[in-house]
Amino acid sequence: MKFFVDTADLNEIKDLAATGLLDGVTTNPSLVAKSGHSDFVSLIREIASVVPGPVSAEVAATDYDTMLAEGLYLAKIAKNIAVKVPLTPAGLKVCKHLSQQGTMVNVTLCFSAAQAILAAKAGATFVSPFVGRLDDIGESGMQLISDICTIYSAYPEFNTQILVASVRSPMHVVEAAKMGADVATIPPAVIRQLFSHPLTDKGLAQFVADWAKTGQTIPTAGNVQPLKSSRT
Ligand code: E4P
Repeated sequence: MKFFVDTADLNEIKDLAATGLLDGVTTNPSLVAKSGHSDFVSLIREIASVVPGPVSAEVAATDYDTMLAEGLYLAKIAKNIAVKVPLTPAGLKVCKHLSQQGTMVNVTLCFSAAQAILAAKAGATFVSPFVGRLDDIGESGMQLISDICTIYSAYPEFNTQILVASVRSPMHVVEAAKMGADVATIPPAVIRQLFSHPLTDKGLAQFVADWAKTGQTIPTAGNVQPLKSSRT
């Protein structure tokens, strides 16, 4: 399963990229506004230089002609840009056009299995079902992921990856992994929660304390005499 970070905060992206566990980035207009950056194109260019995997950059227009022009421009910023378009008739038309010319496209704001079928038929590289926002209105976000997994696996000609979005907790990530979703895009705070377990902290504190009692240190430089095979 691939992990993308769902943020436009460059410092967070650099910090998480340093873990070596980040496969991509998703941004959206709200995240860009929150980041305070006033130059969207240079922000996306810098993100794409920090993370080699797909970086989703969303179009701002809603009509076909302008969306397409914006998408063509965004795709030129870097090879790893995935143009993000909304799941509307015009957005899917742009998706079809861009995917046919080899540009990665992320179809966003997916809230139903029917919409996910349309995204796959439009040749989307990624479809982004928003699980948290469905949970917020009393529906089941994870049931939607399960339905899309079932549908896509019945049609080998669908090459669209399921990108679980609007993730609110580590359980969303675990449930999505159990269902075989391709990608989860996760807010930085939730990525950090994935690392945590109280027993890890407790166990590590004990190991550190017990090691100190031994009075030893492990060398960090110099040569180590390798073990000689008993047969030679
Ligand atoms: C996906 O690409 C979106 O940026 C994101 O996951 C939306 O999440 P939210 O519902 O927390 O805003």
